[in-house]
Amino acid sequence: MAYRHIAAFYDLLDLPFEVGRYRALRPVLFADLSGTLLDAGVGTGRNMPFYPQGAKVVGIDLSPAMLARARRRRDRLGLDVDLEEMDVLRASFPDHAFDAVVASFLFCVLTPEQQAPALRELDPLGARVGAVEQAAVLNELGQALGQLWRGVGHVAVPLARWRVGLVDLCQSKPSRQRIVYSRSERSMAYRHIAAFYDLLDLPFEVGRYPALRPVLFAGLSGTLLDAGVGTGRNMPFYPEGARVVGIDLSPAMLARARRRRDRLGLEVELEEMDVLRTSFADHAFDAVVASFLFCVLTPEQQAPALRELARLCKPGGQVRILEYALSENPLRRFIMRLWAPWVRWAYGAAFDRATEGYLAEAGLRIVETRFLYQDIIKLIVARPV
Ligand SMILES: C[S@@+](CC[C@H](N)C(=O)[O-])C[C@H]1O[C@@H](n2cnc3c(N)ncnc32)[C@H](O)[C@@H]1O
Repeated sequence: MAYRHIAAFYDLLDLPFEVGRYRALRPVLFADLSGTLLDAGVGTGRNMPFYPQGAKVVGIDLSPAMLARARRRRDRLGLDVDLEEMDVLRASFPDHAFDAVVASFLFCVLTPEQQAPALRELDPLGARVGAVEQAAVLNELGQALGQLWRGVGHVAVPLARWRVGLVDLCQSKPSRQRIVYSRSERSMAYRHIAAFYDLLDLPFEVGRYPALRPVLFAGLSGTLLDAGVGTGRNMPFYPEGARVVGIDLSPAMLARARRRRDRLGLEVELEEMDVLRTSFADHAFDAVVASFLFCVLTPEQQAPALRELARLCKPGGQVRILEYALSENPLRRFIMRLWAPWVRWAYGAAFDRATEGYLAEAGLRIVETRFLYQDIIKLIVARPV
């Protein structure tokens, strides 16, 4: 749906760039290519005039509205291009179906979490993967401005994202690395918000969460994992005598968690680690807890993250998850929808991750689910099968 409204204006809005900037880039993207080609994220078909003579091109796009325009362009140009509605994250082509795969301004539309899965999907399809992409200047610019005034940095980062700079022109596979977000770049996601995290969360920590967090740890003992520990908001509720390890992807959040740990005089191990790929042994923990982590993970990351938590939990142990859900109450739902763009922008989070739906495929059996706050904050208790 994302492109439904913009599709009608897309070519018009892009016109200055198409005339000034892109005309020189698009031919380079297709230079030397032949055979069967995939144009991933074909959009309105702006690449079509540059498709190599004699090549058989297939264009895919998620948006029917953009594809409708691409079909009109194809017919106007008298080309023989297959156009299919398909998600680049779940393409239905067999491996090695194409001689080359091309994507222009596709990856800037995908979230950081979607970058690697999209490349993983495209990679086996063709012998070469090439892309023209937006600039990766956002980190540097954000950092520089952030030092000047962190608040300005917040506004500047999304704006900077739109600057065209990096041009990764259809090179052979090693160049892919240049457009994959590395783990350390992903871990930057909470860098800017970390400084404000506790302040922004304060109304909830005072009003909503103090009653919920103790429930998350009630009855737990032994060695516990707090996955996505953040700034350590759960720490005051860790069970006495338990050995707790907290992991988080963000060094900035972890730095704050360390300060809280020291302030509280606790002995919590804190490690920078991705919940999708931890370095712990199987069954290393008596119980695993994650509060407001799964709302931050993308739909594609839900099952792999749960699988990893199931692996880490001892047989008979519990995986406990505290998560948001979109309310069924019309007024609350409306308010949550108003709130959602901010939550997405600031935290990369969403209220409708429906984590429960991924438990079975991750090898977890539901023990209990219940709402702890209205019908919007839910406790999920599960056990490894
Ligand atoms: C909304 S915060 C919740 C923090 C804390 N659990 C709480 O209850 O306040 C989500 C945290 O998950 C972390 N995170 C996001 N993706 C992660 C991943 N793949 N692995 C580990 N931590 C991750 C973020 O850095 C952030 O600190």
